[in-house]
This record gives sequence, structure tokens and C-alpha cells, in this order.
Amino acid sequence: MTMQPIRYGMIGGGEGAFIGAVHRTAAAIAGNWTLAAGAFSSNPEKARRSGAAIGTPPERTYGSYREMLERERALPEDQRIEAVSIVTPNHEHAPAALAAFEAGFHVICDKPVADTLENARAIEKAAAKSGKRIAVTHTYTGYPMVKQARSLVASGQFGKVRRVAVKYMQDWLSRASDIEGNKQAEWRTDPKRSGEGGAFGDIGTHAANLVEYITGQRIASICCELTALPGRSLDDDGAALFRLEGGGKGTLTASQVCVGDTNDLSIDIYCDEAGVHWRQEEPNTLRVGRRDRPEEIWHAGANRAYLDPGIIAIQRTPGGHPEGYLEAFANIYAAFGAEIRSGKRAEGNDPGYATMDDAIVGMQFVRACKRSSDQGAVWIELSSIS
Ligand SMILES: NC(=O)c1ccc[n+]([C@@H]2O[C@H](COP(=O)([O-])OP(=O)(O)OC[C@H]3O[C@@H](n4cnc5c(N)ncnc54)[C@H](O)[C@@H]3O)[C@@H](O)[C@H]2O)c1
Repeated sequence: MTMQPIRYGMIGGGEGAFIGAVHRTAAAIAGNWTLAAGAFSSNPEKARRSGAAIGTPPERTYGSYREMLERERALPEDQRIEAVSIVTPNHEHAPAALAAFEAGFHVICDKPVADTLENARAIEKAAAKSGKRIAVTHTYTGYPMVKQARSLVASGQFGKVRRVAVKYMQDWLSRASDIEGNKQAEWRTDPKRSGEGGAFGDIGTHAANLVEYITGQRIASICCELTALPGRSLDDDGAALFRLEGGGKGTLTASQVCVGDTNDLSIDIYCDEAGVHWRQEEPNTLRVGRRDRPEEIWHAGANRAYLDPGIIAIQRTPGGHPEGYLEAFANIYAAFGAEIRSGKRAEGNDPGYATMDDAIVGMQFVRACKRSSDQGAVWIELSSIS
């Protein structure tokens, strides 16, 4: 029996927006979602214009997300949307998610899940009350080679994790003048819209999530220094030492002012007997280094029989036809869509997307980093962050 695609409505992602179009493309690649409605902007006129350009029917292109939720809820069950995709700036995530749960819809929300830890907890509570599901799009865990890295580490063949080095370097905020007239930069550097974190909320959370995903361990404590260019009130650069709950140690650097690097996310996981290395700008290879044999390069591809079967299954093209960011995003949509339809999470310990628990931990990470930095880079236990 073919699965009916999940009808979804998008909140945000109108003209001039960045990630909304990525979500729509990812949902289309996933194949088990269909865009049925949208409230693409906080400006009703722009929202309607955006819908006309995107191709949502005029009667289901709404001037606000509250109007969308109310009118969709009133439609017959087999026509109305079943889920919303939230792709607004961070401060709108919680109000939109709470309203969506209240109206009885599932939620797929971009990261960080909220502007503050309190609002993240409010989303968690509303999801539990509604009985509806939520996924958070930490894109990088959707890459096949990241999943393979996690599987290799989890197998135990490399021993315990000793050290992790993760860095996420960008340069698009490296000049003071980068903010003015740049929609994405304006809200990201404004605490009222970005929330508690600057670069650490925006991309540090991706790096922390990647550490936890691949190692299968939570970050237990952190010691961090955050800085910003003059005139900015949120961090645009920072570095942290951390300890994993299993005793391994690590370093995490995230910056939006490192000139020459556009989106250089990389992670090195050193275990007792091997090191595993992945870099987002070359996402289809995974390097494994050992002392006593030549290094191995693992390649992505739907025809690479040495990969885990579940990882082969999420790829669409044979090796040498590179998949990338959009397909990684699509893997998250595909997994969450299948879960909504079946009513069951994927078997095993990877639901295929970042859960609300992961997202709450991400918000604790942001707050712990800020608290540590404010106190002169002292060690902070994440369990002390409430
Ligand atoms: N997963 C990733 O890799 C990734 C990458 C980039 C951005 N993001 C996240 O995606 C979100 C959006 O980021 P962006 O860079 O696309 O921002 P953006 O400024 O480009 O787009 C935000 C959109 O939301 C709309 N919007 C604002 N308030 C609204 C409201 N009340 N109702 C409807 N629409 C509203 C804006 O008009 C705009 O269209 C952020 O939370 C960001 O952290 C995630």
C-alpha cells in the first residue's frame, strides 16, 4: 500500500528567507510530504505574495500562522494539514509550536528549538499534552557518513571515546558592516529575536548535537569563553572545553567571524584504537585512522555494500554521485514523516531526527556556555542548568 504523503503547512520561509526553501526541497526529496498550506511571513501581504510564488493554493495561503491553524483545523480531516514546519527566526518558534500543538498538528521545527530554555520546556510540555510529535532539524545528523561514524563508534571495536575535537567556522559576520541590510544577520545578532545564544545558539548547537549524536553520549560539563566584535551583544565567536558523561574530553569551537571559512564544520573522534574524522564540506567520505594499519576512507553511496543496511537504504544515488545538504535534510523529513504515518518511532536508538530531549539539552548547552563565560570560564555541569 502506498503511503499518503503528510500534508503540511509552512510557517515562515517566504521571499528573501533562507531555510524555508531548503525545507520545502527536502520534504519534496523525502517524498512522503506535500506542502498544502503556508503562512510564509509575519507581513500578510508578503505572506500571500510568497505563497503565489511558491505555488500554494490562494485559499490555503494565509496572512498569519494563527489564521492558518484556525482555518486548517476547520477543514475536513482528510484535507486539513497534519503538521507544520516552523522556519521562522528563533523567537517565533515557541509561540508557533504551542499554537500548532493546541490546534492538533505535529511539528517539525528548525534549531535551536526556541529562543530560551524556558520556551523550549514550554514546547516540550505542549507536545506531551497534545499527544502530537515533534522533530528538530539538526541537519548534520542526516548525513549517511555521520550515521556510519556513529555506528562505528557504537560498535565498540575502536574502544572508548578519549577525545573529540569539533569546530564550526563561518565568516559571514566578520565585518561590523555585515549586519545592516542583511535579514539573516539582523535577527541573529538581536537577543530579542535570536535568544540566549549568538553563534553558539546558531551553530554551536549543531556542533554539540553532532558530538552527542556520534559518540552516543551527552556533554556533562563545559568551560567556555565567548566573545563578540565591538557593538554586538551576542557572541559571534567562542571556544569551549567539555567532558562527556563517559569521561572522554573534548574541544568545541564555533565562530561566525573566522575569515575564509564559509561553513567549515568538522569533527574528529579519537577512541582507544582508532580516530574517526568527518568534514561537512566533504561529506561523502569518512576517514578512519589507526596506528598499525593504513588509514581507511569510507565512501557514501547506495551501492557501497560495506555500509550499514539502514544507511544504504537512505541514499538515493550510487557512490560517485554525491548527495549533500539537501539530501541530509530530506533524510530527517523522511524519518519523521514515516513515524507520523506509522505512529511508531524507527527501531533502534536513532529516530532519524533530533528529539525534544536533544533540543532541550542543546538549550542547556547554550545557557551553560554563557554562564561559564560570564563567570570567567569556569566549569559548569550541564545538570545544574534548569
Ligand atoms: N538546520 C539548519 O541547518 C539551519 C540553517 C539556517 C537556519 N536555520 C534556522 O532556521 C530558522 C530560520 O532561519 P533563516 O536563516 O531561514 O531566517 P530568515 O530570516 O531567512 O527567514 C525567516 C522567515 O520567517 C518569516 N517570519 C518571521 N516571523 C514570522 C511569523 N510570525 N509568521 C510567519 N513567518 C514569519 C520571515 O518573514 C522570513 O520569511 C532559524 O531558527 C535558524 O536558526 C537552520
